[in-house]
Amino acid sequence: MNSRELFEKALAARENAYTPYSGFKVGAALLTEDGKIYTGVNVENASYGAAICAERTAFVKAVSEGYRSFSAIAIAGGKDGGEMEECWPCGICRQFMYEFSPDLDVTTGSCADKLVTKKLSELLPEGFTLQNE
Ligand code: THU
Repeated sequence: MNSRELFEKALAARENAYTPYSGFKVGAALLTEDGKIYTGVNVENASYGAAICAERTAFVKAVSEGYRSFSAIAIAGGKDGGEMEECWPCGICRQFMYEFSPDLDVTTGSCADKLVTKKLSELLPEGFTLQNE
């Protein structure tokens, strides 16, 4: 599974994003170390702070199925009906993902032909872990 294929899974998942408040739809596709894919979307709420991002949705689905190690995530985001844009994970998602896979490859882009990949450890230098004690 290359980054382009993973991004296309994120793009397809994005259709199910629930975004009546922001209208900003995000899809994520998370690749486990043994090659399984979990997708996620952002799910918003009338109590705005209760919203969950696409990345965490994908992680929660995978972790709740017993997975703990991941190799890559692709993220597709953009305004509903508008152009897609690079969509890098928010700070909470960076820390959430760092818990499991600091070495994760994070890919996003405005389309499948313009992808950028960065290591999570580059997006979140010195992320918090209790293993540092
Ligand atoms: N959002 C994500 O799902 N992932 C990101 O990487 C950035 C932001 C969502 C949260 C909210 O539902 C909407 O995008 C606008 O902030």
